[in-house]
Amino acid sequence: MKIMILMGSPNRKGSTNILVESFVRGAEESGHTCEVIDVCHAEIRPCTGCVACGYEGPCVQKDDVEEIRGKLLASDMVVFATPLYYYGMSAQLKTMVDRFCAFNSSLNSRHLKSALITAAWNADDWTFEALEAHYKTLVRYINFEDRGMVLGYGCGTPQMTARSRYPEQAYRLGKSL
Ligand SMILES: Cc1cc2nc3c(=O)[nH]c(=O)nc-3n(C[C@H](O)[C@H](O)[C@H](O)COP(=O)(O)O)c2cc1C
Repeated sequence: MKIMILMGSPNRKGSTNILVESFVRGAEESGHTCEVIDVCHAEIRPCTGCVACGYEGPCVQKDDVEEIRGKLLASDMVVFATPLYYYGMSAQLKTMVDRFCAFNSSLNSRHLKSALITAAWNADDWTFEALEAHYKTLVRYINFEDRGMVLGYGCGTPQMTARSRYPEQAYRLGKSL
């Protein structure tokens, strides 16, 4: 499979990245090809809501999303990777998701596999309730096939994350694909 990881943490050496690297190692060991798309450092402008695309068509904004669109539509799986920011995904990742608007139908008909990888400081059992609900709703709406979630509770710093069980969980998710 061709797997695109939408990396929504601005920290290149942060906790989310630790989980993403573990996932990639597992997936590559199982023969898949992975590409990490750094949505935080790409030029991705927010959707203006003009709907000139008609929910399927060229976007009036000419930025890195054109290339990302091609990559996503040519892939078999998309992974949403994000630190938990105020109990949701990072704004950088959400900005990318909003730009799905211009290829909503084609993305829907691709029926991609998907996964969620996330890290948070909090370790309470309700930590990921809102993000999990949002992810599951996206899966349902965009007709993805969920292949799993790595919810990194208590992953507040790279040190905490490296010591936790979540890198292993991310590795196993990649390996299991
Ligand atoms: C703007 C911001 C918002 C955050 N919001 C939350 C939050 O709502 N709940 C939580 O448990 N941690 C929160 N955190 C902590 C991060 O999710 C956590 O430190 C994570 O490991 C950061 O991942 P990174 O190293 O990939 O940046 C927040 C951090 C930042 C910078």
